[in-house]
This record gives sequence, C-alpha cells and structure tokens, in this order.
Amino acid sequence: MPDLDQQLRSQAYEEVEKYKKVVQADPYRLAYHVMPPVGLLNDPNGFIQFKGVYHLFYQWNPFKTEHGAKFWGHYSSKDLVNWEHHDIALAPSDWFDKNGCYSGSAIEHDGTMYLFYTGNVKDENNNRESYQVMVESKDGQHFEKKGVVLRLPKEYTPHFRDPKVWKHGEYFYMVIGAQSKDETGKAVLFRSSNLENWEHLGPIAGAHVGIFEDFGYMWECPDLFDLDGQDVLVFSPQGLEPSGIYYQNLYQAGYVVGKLDYDSVEYKHGEFIELDRGFEFYAPQTTVDDKGRRIMIGWLGLPEEREDAHPTIEHKWIHAMTLPRELKLVDGKVYQLPVEELKELRGEGVKHEAVELGNKAQAFKGVEGDVLEINLETLETITNAMTIHIRNHANLVYNPTDKLFKLDRISYVDGETVEERFCHLHQLKSLRIFIDTSSIEVFINEGEEVFTARIYPDVEEKGISFAAEGTEKVTIEAWELR
Ligand code: FRU
Repeated sequence: MPDLDQQLRSQAYEEVEKYKKVVQADPYRLAYHVMPPVGLLNDPNGFIQFKGVYHLFYQWNPFKTEHGAKFWGHYSSKDLVNWEHHDIALAPSDWFDKNGCYSGSAIEHDGTMYLFYTGNVKDENNNRESYQVMVESKDGQHFEKKGVVLRLPKEYTPHFRDPKVWKHGEYFYMVIGAQSKDETGKAVLFRSSNLENWEHLGPIAGAHVGIFEDFGYMWECPDLFDLDGQDVLVFSPQGLEPSGIYYQNLYQAGYVVGKLDYDSVEYKHGEFIELDRGFEFYAPQTTVDDKGRRIMIGWLGLPEEREDAHPTIEHKWIHAMTLPRELKLVDGKVYQLPVEELKELRGEGVKHEAVELGNKAQAFKGVEGDVLEINLETLETITNAMTIHIRNHANLVYNPTDKLFKLDRISYVDGETVEERFCHLHQLKSLRIFIDTSSIEVFINEGEEVFTARIYPDVEEKGISFAAEGTEKVTIEAWELR
C-alpha cells in the first residue's frame, strides 16, 4: 500500500480516537441510525448484501464537519438493524481520486465484490476532473483499487459522477449522473461485458432526452432498477425551482417509473415524483437482497443547506443515514416501508385503544421519550384536523378538509422560525413514526408518502401529545426503541 494511503488512514483513525468522547457526549447522538464516528457523513455508497452480510459504505470526511476529500467509511450488518463499523474502505490517496473518493456502488460477480466510484480531482485553479474507478474485494474487508476504468466522454462537463452498476442479461450496465455541455442534468448509460471496458450508450433521461424540457443543471446519484416489472430511475436533481408544495428543499431526490429498452437504449418514463416530503433526504441508493427485496437507504441530510448550523457540529459530527426502507410499486408509485427487521428495535410497548382526542392536547402513558416508534391505524374515520405535538419542537398535522399533511419544526438555524413541509393525500389511513434523539421519519399509509427530517428539541423535552379540532377516536400504539 502506498505511503500516502497509510498516512491518510492513520490520520483519520487518530481523529476518531481524539473525538470519540466528544461525539459520545452529544445528547443528539443517534440511538439507532447509522452516523459517522466523527466528521461529516454524506451519501450511502456501495450498498450490497455480500455473502449474506449487508455492507453499507458512506461518503466520509473524518477531518471536518464540512465537505472535502472524501473517504469511503464502512459499516456492515447481518440484520439491517445492528451495524458494525469497520476499517476505512477507500482513502483519497491516488492521482485519480486525490480530492475525494466520491460516491458509487457495489456489485458481486463470481464471488468477488467490485466497487465503482468517482475519483474527484481538482487542480490549483479549481478545474475538476472525473474518473470512474474500479475496486476489487475478495472478502468484503480488504479493498484493492484496480484503477480508472472510464474517462469523461466529450459530451459532458466534469460534473460526471456516482456510477451505479448492475447486471442485466449477459451484460453489466452503469448509470452515471451527468451534466451535458449545455449545462443540463442527465442520466447516462454504459455497458460492459467484463466490468473493465465500458461502452458509452448515451443519455437515457434528462433535458431533451425524453419528456423533460429542462430539469435541473445536474443530476447526482442515479440508480436504475427493476421494481415489480417496471424500471425505476432514482436520481437527485439540482436546480429545480420550488413549485407550490413541491421542490421546497434546496435539492431534490425522486424518481421516474418506466421501461428501459436495453437494445435501443430508449427509456420511456413518466413524471418525476419526490421520494420524501420532509427537510433532509438526499442521494438515496438501493440494493436487492437475498430475499429479493429492493431496499433503499438515503442520506438523512442535504448538501449546502446551512450545514454549518447543525448543533451536532459542536460535538464534531454531522449527518446520518435514514432507516433502510423496502420499496414496493403501488399504482405506479414507489412506496417505502421500514424493513421488517426494525421491529427488533422494539422494547416495551403500550396500546391505547380507541382513545378520545379533543381540543386540549393530551399525552398518553408510555407514548413519550426521544427514542420511540408510534403507530396509528384506521385513521380513515377522521373528519377534524388532528395534530401530534412532538417534544415541543415539531408537529404533524393532518387536515381532512384540504387533505394536506404537514410536518413543521423549529429551524435549526435560528432556533425560532417555524418551517413547514406538506404533502397532499387522498386519504389518511395510517401513520408510523420513528423518532430518534435528533431525527424523525414519518411513514404515511404504509409508505405512500414519507417525511424525513432532523429535529433538535431541547434535550429535556420528551413529551408527545395529541389533539383534534373536534372529537376523534384513535388507537395509539408506541414502543420504546433501544
Ligand atoms: C451527492 C454528492 C455526489 C458526490 C458526493 C461527494 O451528495 O455530491 O454527487 O459523489 O456527494 O461527497
């Protein structure tokens, strides 16, 4: 191993040791979400089940709570619930990745794990270069960079990154997030018979390719996969203008559903749909596991959105991963459900059957705390606006008159401003809410809509209460999570 690689790794481990206690002392440190040991975590990378074990790599800057020359950190899990942290998988130590081992994916072929990532290079004038790099691992623990397998085609600017690789028929395919020379975002397809030589097949989606006239200046982290017989393309476009209750965050993450003709390289797809309606969700990645489930994990964060104001940076860390979610296609829409295994997190539970809610907010025994799951079903009967107050900091509100569902929270930037996100529902049927010390994930109607966000309530505030504008009967279940 070259010296620089060793050096970078040791420096990163020193940083972990140095700030271990500082991170541990943070009351906002998450109890059951993947987070960095120190520094900044962003995109999930190389998500795969390999020889029975789930591997989740992550974009990592161990040295700062800011972006920089990324490493690939590494977690693994046997059950998608308990995660073990491992040695660094990739360090930005080569000429082709000296400014970052950027995002990418994993694939298994003949018992070997291959990673593909983007080598990010910047010169003294901040000119960017982009190389797609292949990595080999026999055991899922030791990783050997095999070098550059794909250089920038002339049609694109150096904003060309985040390879996702899969096999279809006898070929391997790779989709890359790109910006074409006219500065519009694209998803670009490549094909290979050996994982090493990649043929440029062209863009499959983006401005002037299919139905989009113009749809942002850059698409990051594309992922294309079969879901219940359709080809779903997930991507994170940058540069969409807010429109009503849509595209409210600085950057979006969503998908289109369609059919990819692998021979004619034509992808016919429908409209873009946002994957998440909350404040922090970006750059998700999926894998298919041995049970045939399509599982997605997203970054529970957002780039460039006042990252400097998150209170966790005082404790030398920032950002986390979402819970793993199983994807299903229902009436042309991607539904996301927390994977079944997450029930293992449940400790003591309570059930308050058919309790009456009214104007005055009520708390219920056992439905409180900062690490819990709350479940409400048969909400179809509700005819009055209903609110769930969370730790005097965030609220979930559903109004059956306009059928709008809202999450609001107090801004982490000034600790005062109330920010809101909405989604429209045909009907509210059920709510499953996962609260961690500083995060919330709300799954509506078995995953039809999801709200994901960081929340930073006062540490002592553990109260959760329920109210309705008229009398409503609901059943509330809750579990402490460990
Ligand atoms: C998305 C992203 C990717 C890039 C990585 C760098 O959040 O910008 O496009 O590969 O983060 O950390």
